[in-house]
Order: sequence, then C-alpha cells, then structure tokens
Amino acid sequence: MPELRVFIDKNEYNVEKGKTILETMMENNIDIPHVCFNPALGPIESCDTCIVKANGKFVRACSTEIEDNMNICYEIEDVKSRQLEAVNRLLTRHNLHCTVCENNNGDCALHNAVDKLNLERQKYPFEKKGYEPDYSNPFYRYDPDECILCGRCVEACQDVEVNETLSIDWSLEKPRVIWDDNKPINESSCVSCGHCVTVCPVNALMEKSMLEEAGYFTSLTKKAKDNLVDFGKGLEKPIGIGMIMKISNIEAQMRNEQIKKTKTVCTYCGVGCSFTMWTKGRKILKVQPEIESPANGISTCIKGKFGWDFVNSKERLKKPLIRKNGKFIETSWSDAIRFAANGLKKVSEKYGNESIMFIASSKGTNEEAYLMQKLARQIFHNNNIDNSSRFCQAPATTGLWRTVGYGGDAGSIMDIYKSDLVFIIGANTAESHPVIATRIKRAHKLNGQKLIVSDLRKNEMAERADIYLHPAPGTDIVLLSAITKYIIDKKWHDKKFIDERVNNFDDYYKSLSSFTLENAEKITGIPRNQIIKTAEMIHSVKNMCILWAMGVTQHSAGSDESTAISNLLLITGNYGRPGTGAYPLRGHNNVQGASDFGAMPTYLPGYQPINDKNVIQKFEKAWNTKLSVKPGIDNVSCIENIDNDKIKAMYIVGQEFASTGPDSEMVRKSLENLEFLIVEDVFFSETAKFADVVLPASVSLEKEGTFVNTERRIQRLYRVMEPYAETRPDWEIIQDIANELGAGWNYKNPSDIMDEASELCPIFKGVNYSRLEGFKSLQWPMKENGEDSEYLYEDRFNFPDGKARLYILKYRPPLMEDEEYPLHLNNGRMLEHFHEGNETFKTPGIREKVPDTFVEISNDLAKDYGIESGDYVKIVSKWGSVKVRALVTDRVSGNELYMPMNAAYDEEGINMLTSYNRDPDSDTPSYKELPVKIIKLKDKGPSPLPKTNPRFGKRVPQKGINIEMKWKRTDYVKLTDD
Ligand code: SF4
Ligand code: SF4
Ligand code: SF4
Ligand code: FES
Repeated sequence: MPELRVFIDKNEYNVEKGKTILETMMENNIDIPHVCFNPALGPIESCDTCIVKANGKFVRACSTEIEDNMNICYEIEDVKSRQLEAVNRLLTRHNLHCTVCENNNGDCALHNAVDKLNLERQKYPFEKKGYEPDYSNPFYRYDPDECILCGRCVEACQDVEVNETLSIDWSLEKPRVIWDDNKPINESSCVSCGHCVTVCPVNALMEKSMLEEAGYFTSLTKKAKDNLVDFGKGLEKPIGIGMIMKISNIEAQMRNEQIKKTKTVCTYCGVGCSFTMWTKGRKILKVQPEIESPANGISTCIKGKFGWDFVNSKERLKKPLIRKNGKFIETSWSDAIRFAANGLKKVSEKYGNESIMFIASSKGTNEEAYLMQKLARQIFHNNNIDNSSRFCQAPATTGLWRTVGYGGDAGSIMDIYKSDLVFIIGANTAESHPVIATRIKRAHKLNGQKLIVSDLRKNEMAERADIYLHPAPGTDIVLLSAITKYIIDKKWHDKKFIDERVNNFDDYYKSLSSFTLENAEKITGIPRNQIIKTAEMIHSVKNMCILWAMGVTQHSAGSDESTAISNLLLITGNYGRPGTGAYPLRGHNNVQGASDFGAMPTYLPGYQPINDKNVIQKFEKAWNTKLSVKPGIDNVSCIENIDNDKIKAMYIVGQEFASTGPDSEMVRKSLENLEFLIVEDVFFSETAKFADVVLPASVSLEKEGTFVNTERRIQRLYRVMEPYAETRPDWEIIQDIANELGAGWNYKNPSDIMDEASELCPIFKGVNYSRLEGFKSLQWPMKENGEDSEYLYEDRFNFPDGKARLYILKYRPPLMEDEEYPLHLNNGRMLEHFHEGNETFKTPGIREKVPDTFVEISNDLAKDYGIESGDYVKIVSKWGSVKVRALVTDRVSGNELYMPMNAAYDEEGINMLTSYNRDPDSDTPSYKELPVKIIKLKDKGPSPLPKTNPRFGKRVPQKGINIEMKWKRTDYVKLTDD
C-alpha cells in the first residue's frame, strides 16, 4: 500500500492510502471523540462529534479520507467548540443518568465523549420525544427517550445483518427508530439476531437480561432512580458535569467486581460465532460479539445471542443415575464411573471388544472427541467410533476426499463474502447458518455479488437470488452435471487450470455425454433456458464459491451429488484462490472437529487412515497398545449390528440418538436390545430412557476446550461459570472411565489433550492453547511454526501428485413417490431452533416465536385437500406417522411438503417418518427422500406460527440510514464545511 504523509497538529505521520482521518488518529493513539462510528459499521456521519479541521475545512474525521500532505488541526478551539456543540445536541435526546444506567460499563460511547470533551454544563435541555418504550420483543427493549439517533442499529440491521427491519423515520417531528413500517417490535420482521442491540452505543436498545441487573443502583425502584437523577441534575450547576462523570466512572469500575466477562464460542451451529459472555454468578447478562470475533465480528443469530436459558434449566441432570430394577436412582460419581466401566468390561469379556460402539458428541469439544476415540481404540482395540456427521455431513466429506483431498471448507467465510458469485445448493443458509448468510446478503446488496440458489423451497436466500432453480427432489447430480457439460461444450472450462492441476479430464468429459440439456430438463424439471442462464452466469465471473448442506447430503446419492459440486468447481478452475471453493456448511458447532479429531471408524485423528502402517505404528507407540486395523462400525450401521447381535453395548456422549437416527421407532427397539448402555448428556434425553447409567455432563459454558467451525477454524472456549450441580465436563468423565479400566491417563486439563493430538497429527502441528488465546484462532492444516491455512489448495491438492481428480458419476434416481404415498416430505432446520430443539425449546422467547413443529403445505395442495393453517393433519410414511398442524405457505409448491426438524414433543419428530435407506458411499441416511401421504383430521388449532413470528413481518430495505434526510431537516444546522 502506498504511504501518504499527513500532519496532525503539526506532528508528521505516515499513513496507508485509503485510511480515514479517524482511523489514522486512533491508530496513533490520538484520543478523538466519536459516537456513531463503529469499525464494524463504517462511517454513518450522524453525530458530528468527530469534527476536525483538515486543509482549512471542518470535516467529519470518520468519513474523510487522508490526502497526501493533509494538514489536520485537532487541538484547537474552533474544533473543540464544534465537537462540544455536537455532544450538546446529542444530550437533547438523552438524559444523562449514568450511575443508574445499565450501560455504564466503561464502553458507553456517549458517556465517553462527554467525559473526553470535559463538558461542564449542558447547553440545551433534554427533550422527551413523546414515545413509549417498546418492551414487546422477548429479548430486548427500545426506549426512544434514550435514543440519540446515531443510526448504528439501522446500519447494522440494513447492511450487516441485512434483515432490513430498521430505519429512522426522519420525517417525524421527533424522529425515532422504527421497525418495518412502524410496528411494535414483536409484530415486525425482526428476527431477534441482536445486531442492533450489540452496536447501540447507549442504553436505548438493551438486552432485557441486563435491565436492573448490571450496576449497583439499577435495581432501585423507578421513583428512587428518578430522585437520584434529579439530585444529580441539581448538582450539575454547583459542581459541574465533570464531577458527576467521575462518580459514575467509579461506579463503572466497581462493576468489574460484579460482572464477569468471558470469551466463549457458540454451542449451536457450525458458523462458530465467538463472543464475550457477561455473567453475574450463573445469570447470563448478555452475549457481546466482538469486532475481533474471527468468524462473526459483531454478528450473531437469535440462538447465539439469546438462546441460553437451557444452561440454567431446572430440567438439567444434576447427579449420575443408575438403573436398578427398572428404575433410575441417583448415585455418587465414583459408583457411577465404576458401574459404567464394569458394564463395558463385562460386555467385552463376554462378547469381545468389537461388541462395543462409541459415539462422540459433535457438540462436545475436540479434546473430548479425541478422548472418546482413544478410549475405543486404546482400551477396546476397535474402531467402532463415530459422531453425528454420519447423519449429515459425511457425504460432503466423501465428495471432497474423492476430488480434492481434504474433507473441509476450501476457504473462509471471508472468501464467501469476497466471491463474485455464490451458488447455494440444498441449504437454507439464512436459517441454518444465519451469520454466513449475512455476509452473502451484504455482498449481494452492496458489492454486486451474484447469487444462485437451487432448493426445493423458496427460502429467504432463494427470494433474494438472481437465479432461483427448483429441481425435482434428488436430482441435483443431473442439474450439476448438465451445467458442467454445457460449460465444457461451450469451451468455457478453465483449460490451463485443468491441464496443470487436474487429472482425468478426458474420461470425465466423456462420462457426461448423457447429461444433455434435454435429459436434464426432463429429469430435474428445470427449463433448459434456466440451466443455460446458470452456466452463463458461472462463466461470467472470475471467482465462484459453492455452498451446500443437508438438502444435498441427505440423499441416497448424497456423496455423488457432493462430488458433482466439486467436479464443477474443478472444471471452472474455482479452487485455490481467495473467493473460490467448496463449502459444505457444517451443522453442529463441532461436527467438523469431532471428525477432525478422530471420531470416525476408518480414520485416526487428523484423517490418518487406519490402513496406513506408519500411522498405526506411530499411534501404537504413543499409546503403548495394539491397535485394530479393521474398519469400525459407523453409528448408522450400528443399528443393524445391534439387531444382528454384533453390538451389545454402547457409550453415547451428547447425542439424541433415539430421535435423530432414521426411523426412530426402529432405533428405539434396537436400543432396547442392548445389554449395556451409557448415556452422557445434559438432559434426561429420549436416549437416556434406554440407558443403564446416565452421566450428567457440563455444558460448553462450564468447561474449557476447543471447537472447529465450518471453515476449519479452531477456537478456544473458556469456563464462563462453574459446572451446574454435580455435572462434570465430558473429558473428565471419559478420562475417569478409561482410568477405571486401567488406562493410566493423566490429562490435567484440555490443553494437555490438544498437545498430544498436535504431536500425533500433521494437520494440527503447531496448534497449542497459547496460540489460541482469547479471540485468536487457527485454521488447519497448520505448520509447526504456527502458520495456518486460510484457504486450501493454493499450490497443490491433497493427493500424492498434488493434482485434483475429476470423478465419474452416474445418476441413480431417488426413492420416488407412488400412488399410495404421492407427496414428497422435505425437512430441515428453522432459524429459531437448533435441530430437534432440546436446548432452544428451553428459551421461553424462542418458544413464543416457534412453539412447536408443523408441516408446510402449498396453496394448491391445501386447496385440493381442503386444509387451512392450523388444521391438524396426519402424515403417514411407510415407516411411521405423526400428527401435526398445517401451515399453508408459498414457501413450498406442488406436491412438496416441509417439516421443521424441531419438535416440542417427541412423538411429532420428523424421524418418526424417515427410513433407514442410505447413501451407499457414506452410509448417511437419505432423510430427504420421503414419500408420504397426508390425511386431514377433524381437530383444528391456531396457526402453528403465531403472528409475532418474524415471517409475517414486512421488511423495509434501504441502504444505510438515509443520513441526507437528517441533513435536509430544517432543524439541522451544519457544523461542517462540506
Ligand atoms: S433483525 Fe431485529 S434484532 Fe436483528 S438487527 Fe434488525 S431489528 Fe435488530
Ligand atoms: S437505538 Fe439505534 S439510533 Fe438509537 S442510540 Fe441506539 S443505535 Fe443509535
Ligand atoms: S447458532 Fe450459528 S450463527 Fe447463530 S450465533 Fe451460534 S454459531 Fe452463530
Ligand atoms: S463519529 Fe463521525 S459523525 Fe459520528
């Protein structure tokens, strides 16, 4: 970057081109007031507190770029008086009452500006706006009388989250922030992501959990508070505001004793949002994402920001339970550990080591997954270890292993943001990976990024897309191969990239001969001109990323469909550069890490194959044991292996196996047949009902460790609070069981486990806890010197010759509807809930927004069946039936139905209907191939989505905050010369 020379109050500085005056001053520790500016939002220009004189003109420092030889005056009277005027104007909208304000925590931008400018007397009186505070949203409130109209919240909602709910109505006599077209918050399109609350510089938008909790005087009655404020105001004249600010600064300091702030990582989805959690004892005051949060910056979704009530739920397990005479009784930890270890030992002695199956949690830490696989391999000499990626992500991993060599995202979330074109296939990104969706929505809205969405449902991303494709269920492979063939036929493929970096082009091209536009149109139902338009759009850009999820993977050809995605990326040269690559969006917070750290039946940690002699020798030496080289049983085939008496015991950590496995009834019968079952969990789950011993585990906030997010990013979580009741972290429990069985492990804390994994796994070389301190993170593969990999395949693909492999595919039709089961039932996540919802249903505000599951039905089908929203229907498949309410919506069409995965009551869960059919290459159940019939029942209830659900709101898109409208108001007097 070329450097410029600049003078600030006569001192010379060198500055990179493109920096603003404010950035330059902050970088050089020149303390300049600024209220509306937030680095994550950029200049908003609404507060005027940052005025300086640059080359003789008064300008806003936050929005003025440095020019060469610029002369900036800051410490001069003219500048100070304008800054003071700006702050005085802000104080007409906000009554200073810092000591009794929940926002007085040292980071209130208004307080700090007043303090910095040594304001002694308020020039104008505070004026009430005349609007009532809005408490309607379950999680936060807006108080117009505290609002300084800085517009940060609007900027965040419009252009960072891009939910486009907020604006400031500058046309009102007293402007204020409004939701949609001025609705109560809870009746608007607000998705409760919390962006606006996170960035509000004052207390106008505030988490309800902070109210009356943060601060020593905030819980006083309103009357007492008013009296205190009046008393303070009375002192303003004799002692000045400065003295009052000093008192509030002392109170703010004291809050450090009261409020603990701990960095942690979200325990829901694979985006891996990190944040600081503010707590008072076990009370969670707020979740504050930070600018330096590597995956998310200031972003969160409703779950990460507000969905933590499960942590203190009364339903949590408190003590270990042992089944005696058909009843569970509480017991001590030492008895429970002995009982668990003996149970496994007895089964192994009676039926052999291979009769035991281990399931690691994809919600637990890497260190815990590592210990689970070590327990299986070192102590029981088997590879019967798996995690829930088998239910969702294994086909994506298979597709990538076949073609490029690493089973992980090719780049970072920033690459997706930077890309010219994002192609989303079978993924409801705005709901399942909301923070990644915000980056795409922003790039699409502001940077001209193109967006193609292929999905059965017209979800939010489909609504925003430049091209929306709706293929027949299970035909993605045909669509993708036809696009690929068309690109090569047109000679639009990247010949140089293919010649230099890809094997098998000629044979692969030949294999595409049947994927003509005609065939594709016939099979997918997508008109050929749409397929051509898609190919043309791909051809028109330099860089493309493809994102996919369970809408692709949970099919009987899930691995092949994932492979077809990677083939298309290879043909177009879209690997190995920023803004390119394959992004299988990982579901659970640590489903990537559980596989990375070896909870897989054919790989040791770090994807080292069990059939590699050198690998086996290395681990045998390190663990001082004999390892099995026989591929283990995975957690889907384990069900049939229970039925054929090969598996007699299971140790399941943190997985609701009884509800998330395919065909719940069958799974439950199998669990009943086990001779011994250990379940380690946070709640007494459905699975726990079948256990012989139930071990109460701590939640992520109660332990240390690391997670790997979807972009291969390893992040540390710190202990926010002590373990609940007698719960314990999984790694401690697993270690105790291993030691009871004679393992002799001696891990003092999770960093010891990471050190061992790092020593044994080439892709984790160089990973250690000090390199992961605070918000630091590392993306594997790592080098010993600590260098990580933001994106993969820059120089070589992960095969011995460094070249990628085009993989030949054939189309296998999915399980089709028939006369008896004429409808297709799709399923997936909802924004508000995570998976089956066993944690999110514990948050009353979330439950208020989405109380239960339901089935979405198209207008046409609803008419045919005479069904209205709220009617109860019975959905029947070959494998079971459920009774749920219907929601008539245009999100689905034709004979396609959709059910969210979340269910408040177990008997309504989607897996009461799903089958045990599987993708032969990954063993992943084809949850999405589900022919059903629907029967209208007599019962009727209210619509399953209440009117307070944001899906009924009406967004008001605009760019930024429309600051020009403020400047045009007659009551605005300019302070700058522009
Ligand atoms: S969607 Fe709601 S919570 Fe999120 S930024 Fe917009 S107004 Fe705030
Ligand atoms: S509510 Fe919005 S406009 Fe008002 S002070 Fe907070 S961030 Fe600024
Ligand atoms: S659920 Fe996912 S997107 Fe939402 S806060 Fe957590 S990690 Fe972020
Ligand atoms: S910080 Fe520059 S105008 Fe507000």
